[in-house]
Amino acid sequence: MAISQTNFAWATLLEIGSPEPGRPHRLRDHLVRALRTAIRDGRLTEGAAVPPSRALAEELGCSRWAVTEAYGQLIAEGYLTARVGSATRVSWSPDTTPPYPRAHPAPAPPPVRYDLAPGLPDLRAFPRRRWADAVRAVTGSAVHYDLGLPDPAGHPGVRTTVAQYLRRSRGADARAETVTVCAGVTDGLLRTCRALRAEGIADLAVEHPGWGRLRDAATSAGLRPHPVPVDHDGLRVDDLVRTPARAVIVGAAHQFPTGTVLSPARRARLVRWARDVNGYVIEDDYDAEFRYDHHPVAVMQGMDPRRVFLLGSVSKTLSPALGLGWLVAPAALTQALAAANPVAAAPPVLDQLALATFIDRGWYDAHLRAARRRFRTRRDLLIRTLGAQLPEARAAGTAAGLHILLHLPDDTDTHATVRAAATAGLRLADLDDYRVQHSADRALVLGYGNITDPEIPPAVALLRGALATRTPKAERPA
Ligand SMILES: Cc1ncc(COP(=O)(O)O)c(C=O)c1O
Repeated sequence: MAISQTNFAWATLLEIGSPEPGRPHRLRDHLVRALRTAIRDGRLTEGAAVPPSRALAEELGCSRWAVTEAYGQLIAEGYLTARVGSATRVSWSPDTTPPYPRAHPAPAPPPVRYDLAPGLPDLRAFPRRRWADAVRAVTGSAVHYDLGLPDPAGHPGVRTTVAQYLRRSRGADARAETVTVCAGVTDGLLRTCRALRAEGIADLAVEHPGWGRLRDAATSAGLRPHPVPVDHDGLRVDDLVRTPARAVIVGAAHQFPTGTVLSPARRARLVRWARDVNGYVIEDDYDAEFRYDHHPVAVMQGMDPRRVFLLGSVSKTLSPALGLGWLVAPAALTQALAAANPVAAAPPVLDQLALATFIDRGWYDAHLRAARRRFRTRRDLLIRTLGAQLPEARAAGTAAGLHILLHLPDDTDTHATVRAAATAGLRLADLDDYRVQHSADRALVLGYGNITDPEIPPAVALLRGALATRTPKAERPA
């Protein structure tokens, strides 16, 4: 019910009992909250006059000061207006139009017991103690101007550390001036695409199958994505040259989701193509730290730093929750990159500094060495277990990264398999989820980052059960 000045007791409305003597500030704050709430929920309607301060103070048995202060606060907030010679009135009303119809909340997914979907590193192995040490160290040692406005391209000292790391460990051609510290590969791609758009490039070739978020990043920067097939040697350059694209994003070290490595011949061809079309290759250095059959292959960017952008992040090595990555741009384009991204924000400076400390103290290398050993063993175990329990399936993909492809018999309904597995608490991903056109090839993308070794046999047993509940295509109604 709306209330007018005459028909109700203000003390009741404002839920104020006997004020405590000598606590006028407390009473003022209470009055502000109570009047604000009464206006917001519509009990005090727009235009209604509030009592003169003297009258309300008398009714409440408090000082007039508390009431005039409270009115003054609500006038400043826009809930009341005061005019000379007239009563102070309510000047705001809540929106009474019916709220948007609520979307029915999606049913909660069944709890996950085992995670064989790709996308996560071993979250249990996050180096909490050393990361906390790095955060503590930089919080104590950061100079005061590090706490001022951040450099949008990243903290200069962190860019130096990242450039050194990329030169030493990835064979990149990187200098502090060409490195941007960003929130990850997706953010780096978004920034790169905006810069390419400003350079007059409107079309970007993307791998097919591929990670949809990269396509989405390109589209949101105004580029048209052109899917180009991937075969056992990586991106098919013969198909690329037939597109109107002058730029391509490619996972050279370990393509997601096929798990192929770009062959040496294709690497060279791709860079030559970029020169021929006066275009660019964007190298997504995804999974590159994890190669199990030999030493990680150096980045393509080193072959021609004027034509190749390099993107990387710690999402697969430490955790995607950190939101830290890097972008190395051709030197001639660093200004264009900054100009095309005027409102891009760098990740929090203390987090950047923690990463630099983590790298400088040798903790990142140590973490990667341990992770490599752990993932090599886990990959072998997964492939052995699959071979023993699912002889009709075929595991594929280079001995690298955090995922494999599992090819299944042609009559497998992979969608039904993923659904049946989810009901049993096993998370899986269908290769079809990474395609823009469906294909006859039935396969799952199995990630082994976020599962423990002892969980692998029961997870594969659940997968076998989910495959057994599938409806072979031949038996499905037409
Ligand atoms: C192909 C590919 N590249 C890069 C990334 C990492 O992206 P970000 O650094 O934005 O987390 C992912 C994550 O799943 C990916 O699938």
